Amino acid sequence: MTVSSQPIGVFDSGYGGLTVLREIVQKLPQYDYIYLGDNARTPYGTRSFDTVYQYTLECVQHLFDRGCQLVILACNTASAKALRNIQQLDLPTLAPGLDGPDRRVLGVIRPTTEVIGTYSKTGNVGVLATRGTVTSESYLVEIEKFFPDLHVFQEACPMWVPLVENGEYDSPGADYFVNQHIERLLAQAPGIDTILLACTHYPLLLDKIKQYAPPSTTILSQGGIVSNSLADYLVRHPEIDAKCSKHGHRTFLTTDSTEDFDRQATVFYGEAIQSIHLAL
Ligand code: DGL
Repeated sequence: MTVSSQPIGVFDSGYGGLTVLREIVQKLPQYDYIYLGDNARTPYGTRSFDTVYQYTLECVQHLFDRGCQLVILACNTASAKALRNIQQLDLPTLAPGLDGPDRRVLGVIRPTTEVIGTYSKTGNVGVLATRGTVTSESYLVEIEKFFPDLHVFQEACPMWVPLVENGEYDSPGADYFVNQHIERLLAQAPGIDTILLACTHYPLLLDKIKQYAPPSTTILSQGGIVSNSLADYLVRHPEIDAKCSKHGHRTFLTTDSTEDFDRQATVFYGEAIQSIHLAL
């Protein structure tokens, strides 16, 4: 990555954000992207508000140092626990501009809650997420703004991220935990017809989730929603779009082993990648 390059930063606690990056790249291939997976400190979903905020801020700062003008938190837990503070408290000093911060950080919760109500016929939606996202109640609060009549039921799935991070998403152990949480979610309301995978790791469990959910259920992943929203954002903000370099470069950073990252990330991203180690 050259110094003059200004890639779009995509951040996640580990591999999950690659499921989002994959769809962003498909939709907007011309931009440069730099992905940062904080694999050494994953999972974030079981950590405190302060810890998630501090880790996320460090990663955003690093992406800014590498020239990013726009960073996407492709992690629901970081979006729920760190985004607001970063936008309101840190950006004005990290990226001061004449009319407000001149660099932007966006999350994945807002674009999802803007459209989720359009998928449900019964008005009953299930949200599967990490414990951190569930207890933050971000989805309940944000969905209320756009679809006040929607009934939202949440279920925390604390074992799902470790299963995915450890490459066990296709194992019999995964069957047990996927079934358990789908059952618990559906027991909350018989009319749930739409299930949102509100953790970017969960699309790796999609085959199993489909197996245990009723066939008529709509299962929503966020990759497509976030990539559409980003495309729209860049059209509405030509001043930001102009700052993002467009040479089709991709860079992958991991805070843990590059060998492990390259092996696993291929599954999440859909093509072979070569990562660079980042010591934070
Ligand atoms: N991928 C993250 C999310 O979307 C969570 C992973 C974690 O717990 O670290 O919430």
